[in-house]
Amino acid sequence: MVGEVWVKREDGKFWPSEEMKKKANISDESIYEKSYEDPISFWEKMAGELHWFEKWSKPYEENMPYFKWFIGGKINMSYNCLDRHLDERGDKPAIIWEPEPPHGETRVLTYRELYKEVNKFANVLKSLGVKKGDRVGIYLPMIPEVQIAMLACARIGAVHTVVFSAFSSESLKHRLVDSNAKVLITADGYYRRGKVEDLKSKADKAVEGTEVEHVVVVRRIGSDVNMVEGRDHFWDELMENAEDFCEPEVMESEDPLFILYTSGTTGKPKGIIHETGGYATQAYTTTKFIFDVHDDDIFWCTADIGWVTGHTYACYGPLLNGATLLTYEGAPDYPDPGVWWSIIEKHKVTIFYTAPTAIRMFERLGEEWIDKYDLSSLRILGSVGEPIGEEAWMWFFEKIGGGRCPIVDTWWQTETGGILISSLPGIGPFIPTFAGRPFPGVRMTILNENGEETKPNEEGYLVQKSPFAPGMLRGVFGNPEKYKEEYWSKFEGIYYTSDGAYKDEDGNIRIIGRLDDVMKVAGHRLSTAEVEDAITKHPDVAECAVVPRPDKIKGEVPVAFVILKGDYREGLENEIKDIVRKEIGPTATPAEIYFVDDVPKTRSGKIMRRILKKLLRGEDVGDITTLKNPESVAAIKEKISKTE
Ligand code: WTA
Repeated sequence: MVGEVWVKREDGKFWPSEEMKKKANISDESIYEKSYEDPISFWEKMAGELHWFEKWSKPYEENMPYFKWFIGGKINMSYNCLDRHLDERGDKPAIIWEPEPPHGETRVLTYRELYKEVNKFANVLKSLGVKKGDRVGIYLPMIPEVQIAMLACARIGAVHTVVFSAFSSESLKHRLVDSNAKVLITADGYYRRGKVEDLKSKADKAVEGTEVEHVVVVRRIGSDVNMVEGRDHFWDELMENAEDFCEPEVMESEDPLFILYTSGTTGKPKGIIHETGGYATQAYTTTKFIFDVHDDDIFWCTADIGWVTGHTYACYGPLLNGATLLTYEGAPDYPDPGVWWSIIEKHKVTIFYTAPTAIRMFERLGEEWIDKYDLSSLRILGSVGEPIGEEAWMWFFEKIGGGRCPIVDTWWQTETGGILISSLPGIGPFIPTFAGRPFPGVRMTILNENGEETKPNEEGYLVQKSPFAPGMLRGVFGNPEKYKEEYWSKFEGIYYTSDGAYKDEDGNIRIIGRLDDVMKVAGHRLSTAEVEDAITKHPDVAECAVVPRPDKIKGEVPVAFVILKGDYREGLENEIKDIVRKEIGPTATPAEIYFVDDVPKTRSGKIMRRILKKLLRGEDVGDITTLKNPESVAAIKEKISKTE
């Protein structure tokens, strides 16, 4: 079947069709100029579309490197996602959930049903002693309880910190300790590629020795789990007696909504703080304009809730807009590589937001899995997390979108809370490999080393200038120094993203990639230092350096160079990989481990990861005479060429 045509080709670029322009929430190009000129009025107008118990007295205030939005405004996120829609959309599906086959059936929660569950769980949290400002850990798979738990926290003003379910108990523990969480919400386990994954025993290990007083356990697989008397409770048992209504807590706009841990340049992930009113405004506005949600749309963002994309576009953004969101518990290729496309056909998904790594995977799995299904319901495609190459872009456009749907290539970060660069469906253009213009009201630009704006096609540092977008981070939990150093020290009064980029003549931005030691492995953010810290926990390892190497499907994979204390022995590779899995999780496992005598270092002893990266890519390493140990370079080069 052929669906409607939402995009047309002109001058080698793609533009919205007349149908798209007519339908789009925004198609007037003057929005850009007006909002870049006066971002504060733009964001005030958008915030005004949300529900405030009391309007703000001042829209924006700056005291660098801190800034605030909607000062004095009183708001509640769950009220805006739920209560606000009850009259008009009470019976409309809010969440459509698909289990991993064959374990269970589709679950649909209407806005009224979701409202009821959230109210009840908010009362459960209260009964466990959770108060406004307390931190609550959420370690759940992709089941509707994850959105219910997040919204229930928001309802009572508790700060959630969601931890990706594939992360290890060590990773969970670090986050629970660092955020000082009082309650943890988890599940007995979940299904992944036909296997049962255990969560509860990982949670048990993590909770030991922390301040966590209560653990709430969702029964997803019905396994026999160990329950600690007085500490552990089953979700369903607590919900049985919970009251149906919980008064939403009246929050200051600047009160924190959540903390999400992400990798930076150092070993331990840092807790990125997001507040309520500004984040809500940005999540709402970007979903409305970039994904162009309407009442008849079914919006599927495939990101796991453990990442920021899941927070903003698989929970808050769609619900703030009263849209229907779809979530899927399982892996993209199980029970077969047609499962995603069968879900799109079954539920007539109209907006589909995913990552380049998934697109590249499907491109290689063969088209028969796609051709079997009718994807004509699709209207808008989205990409996020890493640069999407031209080939993957065109394949996504032709094969999934049937050449009918625009692709919004959305650039943003955990720190920015919502999308900051993307083209808009009703305005365009959609150019392969270019994310597009900065979102209305956002002053993204590119600077050279001296802090001057670059000319078209000249590469530089991607930055944001004041006033900073409302959804931006407000700090690093418990570490103000890190906040200043990582984001505000490169250019005075300017937010530095750590990405490199350039603009074309029309101001469309192309992202080159990270300029620091952060890797994107299958879209997952990881720091080289984190993996190095895990590897050096092995008793035989003296020192190590981890760098990313390009990978056809995952984008990047970590490669480790290890210096041993003693001699090499059989089995070390696997032991090292196991340690990484245990300390971080399977996504961080090194693709290759090279045992070497030395790694290139500067005279002051700093490891030159840049050189290792070049060696892995087979590139010229340039002048190495100033190194402390230039001879190490030739030795490593030989080792790499031998294994290839
Ligand atoms: C990269 C994910 C190219 C970028 C939302 C950024 C992208 C990092 C894109 C943040 C894109 C994100 N094109 N690169 N469309 N979107 N990135 O915190 O390097 O997991 O700094 O947030 O992903 O990753 P994070």
